[in-house]
Amino acid sequence: MSTTTARTVASIANLKDYIDQEVQVNGWLYNKRSSGKIQFPILRDGSGTVQGVVVKKEVDEATWDAVSSLTQESSVKVWGKVRADDRAASGVELAITGCEPVHVVTEEYPISHKEHGVDFLMTNRHLWLRTPRQTAILRVRHTIEKAFRDFFDLRGYTLVDSPFLTPAACEGTSTLFEIDYFGDPAYLTQSGQLYLEAAAMAVGKAYCFGPTFRAEKSKTRRHLMEFWMLEAEHAYVELAGNLEIQEQMLEYVVQTVLAKHRDDLEKVIERDVSKLENVKAPFPRVTYDDAIKILEEAGQPVPWGEDFGAPHETLLGEKYDRPVFITHYPASIKAFYMKPDPNRPEVVLCADCIAPEGYGEIIGGSQRIDDLAMLETKMKEHDIPPGPLEWYVDLRRYGSVPHSGFGIGLERTVAWICGLDHVRETIPFARMLTRIYP
Ligand code: 4AD
Ligand code: MG
Repeated sequence: MSTTTARTVASIANLKDYIDQEVQVNGWLYNKRSSGKIQFPILRDGSGTVQGVVVKKEVDEATWDAVSSLTQESSVKVWGKVRADDRAASGVELAITGCEPVHVVTEEYPISHKEHGVDFLMTNRHLWLRTPRQTAILRVRHTIEKAFRDFFDLRGYTLVDSPFLTPAACEGTSTLFEIDYFGDPAYLTQSGQLYLEAAAMAVGKAYCFGPTFRAEKSKTRRHLMEFWMLEAEHAYVELAGNLEIQEQMLEYVVQTVLAKHRDDLEKVIERDVSKLENVKAPFPRVTYDDAIKILEEAGQPVPWGEDFGAPHETLLGEKYDRPVFITHYPASIKAFYMKPDPNRPEVVLCADCIAPEGYGEIIGGSQRIDDLAMLETKMKEHDIPPGPLEWYVDLRRYGSVPHSGFGIGLERTVAWICGLDHVRETIPFARMLTRIYP
C-alpha cells in the first residue's frame, strides 16, 4: 500500500513563490556534483533548472542512495523545502528530503557537459533540445509566435489559413519543391500571400501563419528549406500604411519578449538585451537608390538594378539601432505581383525590413498590383502561365482595391531577438540543404 501523501508539484520557474514551503519537482537530472557527505543534483523540468542539496546525515539512507543512483538525464521526482539563495540564477535551491527515480539511464548519455561540434549536436537534436539554452530558445520562439497572433487578433484581423499544396509558384520557380499530385505537378507552398489576397478581399484584414517551403540551393546561416512565415494582408492599405503596421508589430513583439523573457535572454542565452530596447517605431526608411549610395560610400558598391547580398544587408542594417526599411527596389529584381511606382515604373512600391546587428532581411512586403491589365502584362513579362493563377487574376475583376501586405520569417526573427549565429537553433528540427535527420 502506498504511503505517499499528496504533495504540491511546482514547476522550477515558479519555485520563487514557494520559499520555505515543501514542494515536489518532476523532472530530469541535468548534472550533479557531490562529495562523500553532500550531493548537489541540478534538476531541470523544461521551465528552468534548480540546484538541489542533499545532506547525508539529514536524509534517510534510501533517499541518499536514490539520489546517488541518478545519472545524467535520468527522470526523477524529488521533494523538499524551497530555500532562498541569492547566489543561484533561479534565486532558490531545493533542500531535498525525498527522491523517487522514474527511469535511471544506464547508458552513457550522448551529450556530455563538454563542448561538442555543431554537426554532432544537430544529429542529436532530439536530445540537444533538452539543454537549458535550447529550451530557452524554444520558449522565446513560442512567445514570438503568440505575440504575432495577439498583435493581429487585437487589431481585428481574421486568421485565414492558406493551403500548403499549391498548383503555382508565388516567389519564382527556382526554389519550388515539386510533388506528384495524382499525376499532375503540384508544389509545396513558398508563401500564402496570393491566397491571403483573396482572403483580404473577403474579410478586409487577414493573416496566416504556417510552414513554407523553399528548395534553397544555398547553404547560409539565414536559409532553411522549411521555415515558418507570418503573413498579413490588408485591403485599402498602401505602401506607407503597410510599413507602419510592420514597425508597430515588431515593436510589440520585441517588447513583449523583453518583458517576459529577460532572464532567459540575459542569463541563459547571454543576449545583450540593450540592443533590443531601442526597437520602437518609427523605423528609418531608406530608398533603394539611397541604399546604393550608402553602399558605394562604404566601399561596397552595387550596380543599380542588382539585388543586395548578405554583406550589403549587414552593412545597411548596422547603420541603425533598430530595423530599417529599404523601399522602392527595381521592379526587375522583385516578384511579379508588386505594384510599380506610378511616378517611376522602373521601381516597385515594396520594402524589405533589415534587422540590425547583421541579421539581414526579416520582412519582405509590398503594395500589390490592383489593375487587371497591368497584372496580366506583368505575368506575361515574368513568363507566368495564367492558367493556375486565373483565380488570382479574377481578384482584379471583382471589386479590386489598393492593398498591401508582408511576410516575416519566424526563424530569422528568433535568431535576431536571441542573438544566434545561425537559424538552425531557432526551429526545433531544422531542414537544411544537407540535413533532414532527425
Ligand atoms: O521576402 P519573401 O520571399 O516574401 C514573400 O514570400 C512574400 N510573398 C511575403 C508577403 O508579402 N506576404 O519572404 C519573406 C520572409 C523573408 O524576409 C525572410 O524573413 C523569410 O521570409 N525567408 C526565409 N527564412 C528562412 N529560410 C528561408 N529560406 C527563407 N526565405 C524567406
Ligand atoms: Mg524577400
